[in-house]
Amino acid sequence: MRNPETIESIVAWLREDDPEKIESLRGRADELRRDALGGAVHLRGLIEISNYCVRQCAYCGIRAANSKIPRYRMTRDEVLDCVGKADSLKYGSVVLQSGEDDKIDPEWIADVVRTIKAKYPLAVTLSLGECPTEHYRLWKENGADRYLLKFETGDIELYNRIHPPRSGRPSDRVAILRELREIGYQIGGGIMVGLPGQTYASAARDIKLFAELDLDMLSAGPYIPHPDTPLGDEFLLDKNPTGDQIPNSGAVTLKIMALARIFCPQANMPVTTALATKATDGYLEGLRWGANVIMPNITPVKYRRLYEIYPDAINKDVEDVHNGIARIIEKAGRTIAAGPGHRIVKGE
Ligand code: 5AD
Repeated sequence: MRNPETIESIVAWLREDDPEKIESLRGRADELRRDALGGAVHLRGLIEISNYCVRQCAYCGIRAANSKIPRYRMTRDEVLDCVGKADSLKYGSVVLQSGEDDKIDPEWIADVVRTIKAKYPLAVTLSLGECPTEHYRLWKENGADRYLLKFETGDIELYNRIHPPRSGRPSDRVAILRELREIGYQIGGGIMVGLPGQTYASAARDIKLFAELDLDMLSAGPYIPHPDTPLGDEFLLDKNPTGDQIPNSGAVTLKIMALARIFCPQANMPVTTALATKATDGYLEGLRWGANVIMPNITPVKYRRLYEIYPDAINKDVEDVHNGIARIIEKAGRTIAAGPGHRIVKGE
């Protein structure tokens, strides 16, 4: 297959419509995944601890201005209950995620992390948005292993258009990722695919940015319009975009995943829930296109319904979600990984 190196060659792959060539791209990514990481799929239990958010991201259903959703904050016991479930399902790690909730005391997070680490052999990933450096340090000192902060798009103009910053502080997530690595976290970034105004070339540059940042974890998920957001109008998205606009399709998302795998053979790459929501067989396809991680949502259903970053149909409890995912992993001819699934770095 043509080697994707330059932005132009990556764009050519993203626009490729010859099924045989597309299959060669998938095959290459799958082979690289197998050689670097084997067949095991890591399961990370996602716990959405609060849907309060002070930010106004133009695409996100839990943005501050969306008064339609009731807000919740899980208690310490509720969070630890979920963690116990993840442990009994033999997951290797948990991800604590929330909106940018200024009312959560950083000491409370530190205590929850410390308690988890004392009680379970789990890796702990935090995904709590853009926070003060001293909070990142505090959580690391208390045992957090990883931090996820998706930069959504590396196109600064587009980024700024859809991410009004906190007052007095620019929103530079790439800089924050570098800082998090400095503090000692394994770092995860990611993008959405098909944002209105996002071009093929911009997505190609994002794939290169993944490699440049040497991310431990990376993801690409299709943008899904949410009707209660400024960007939510379906009509903003041309169903058959021509020109430079990249579509928010499952097909192009899978190509981006394959290319990301080619550029970052050893990174941990999940199938995003957005892909599983948007595309039939999204999990199965994602595993075939370079992914080695799935993040089952283990938030109690009564809260999960309210963590509506984009519309989806949620009615399954934790065991159903788990069993469905276990079946897909088997169908893909893969196994469920044991252990925390830290990023492997060649030569270490
Ligand atoms: N469509 C797809 N993904 C979304 N996210 C937030 N809103 C949307 C949407 N409308 C993703 C972002 C965010 C993650 C938690 O969910 O990538 O970082």
